[in-house]
Amino acid sequence: MSVARIINLPKMGDRRGNLSVIEENNHIPFKIERAFWIYDVPGGETRGGHAYKETEEIIVALSGSFDVVLDDGKERKVFSLNRSYYGLYVPKLMWREMVNFSTNSLALVLSSTPYDAADYIRDYEEFINIKR
Ligand code: TYD
Repeated sequence: MSVARIINLPKMGDRRGNLSVIEENNHIPFKIERAFWIYDVPGGETRGGHAYKETEEIIVALSGSFDVVLDDGKERKVFSLNRSYYGLYVPKLMWREMVNFSTNSLALVLSSTPYDAADYIRDYEEFINIKR
């Protein structure tokens, strides 16, 4: 599957605990224009279910765990985010769903663009047609 991948972010650990870090254009391949976070997700709920025309993202499970299902129009792959130092890079034009949220999980999303509703593809058929 194209370039979607889990990036192992730096982890500085000592007896006081762990610290991880993300620098734009260094650990991740884009400039961060926006950060948002997803929390208080009820058990069994699904988030996402769309693609972006231009936006690239890094998704981090800051707390707890969840799975991100990525679909590039050809194949579907599940990435389990269960470590705070995993950053999932999601390129543009990738259908994405977030499932299996654990209790009290916290998802941080770093985005390459400011919010723009027009950048969303919310219809799977339309997504597949664009990918063709
Ligand atoms: P949405 O992207 O649909 O959530 P998810 O993909 O996790 O299911 O966003 C939910 C709502 O929040 C929707 O009404 C759009 C709004 N929103 C913003 O206003 N700004 C943002 O940066 C984001 C990501 C969403």
